[in-house]
Amino acid sequence: MLLGVNIDHVATLRNARGGAEPDVLLAARICEENGATSITTHLREDRRHIKDQDVENISKEIKTNLNLEMAVTEEMGKIALKILPHSVCLVPEKRQEVTTEGGLDVACQLEKITAFVKPLKNAGIIVSLFIDPSEEQVKASAKTGAQFIEMHTGAYSNAFGTPDEEKEFLNLKNATKLAQNLGLKVNAGHGLNYENVHRMHEIEGLYELNIGHSIISKAVFVGLDKAVKEMKDLIE
Ligand code: PXP
Repeated sequence: MLLGVNIDHVATLRNARGGAEPDVLLAARICEENGATSITTHLREDRRHIKDQDVENISKEIKTNLNLEMAVTEEMGKIALKILPHSVCLVPEKRQEVTTEGGLDVACQLEKITAFVKPLKNAGIIVSLFIDPSEEQVKASAKTGAQFIEMHTGAYSNAFGTPDEEKEFLNLKNATKLAQNLGLKVNAGHGLNYENVHRMHEIEGLYELNIGHSIISKAVFVGLDKAVKEMKDLIE
């Protein structure tokens, strides 16, 4: 399994004082030097953490792959076609949410998302859809032309260590298998941490995990290099 590190919260910290520190590009470099195979950033509509200039800088300067998370909006489509990241991950976005709360409802927006995916793919960008692990969403995703889905692991992460863990884990496992049978590659992420990530090994063929908050939180105490390395060791 590969490791994508989401560095949005380095930008959150920087923006708290409005200056240049901590340097988001330096964070991206440290992540890749310590085992990240992609750098994930979510350019939100309200630009609350990552800014347009960050995305441009990271896109130009990193050696690994930029995975740009974004909402399905005309503005974001234009930005992706200008920046040409290695991949985009389409996510739902609500202004007031603290983080991405649920998966994209592909089933209800099949036409809109299919039309959105096409020009991105034509430009050579790999397209992933961030969805909840449900049969309905997986089947709809397979019809859009997207090559990847990213399975929302939030429900599993929240249930970890509780009686609901097994049920949520099985949802992930079954949805992954269905997606793979339908020709999709599968990533996973959201809420994964140093305690709960090990069960991702039980899901055959997962391609990449995208992890942010737990790595940046650990980095406060041990440094970003060690935090990334430790996660990389756990998922390899
Ligand atoms: N994947 C997606 C699509 C996300 O929106 C996020 C959160 O920004 C993550 C992964 C990473 O989640 P976390 O910060 O909880 O590790």
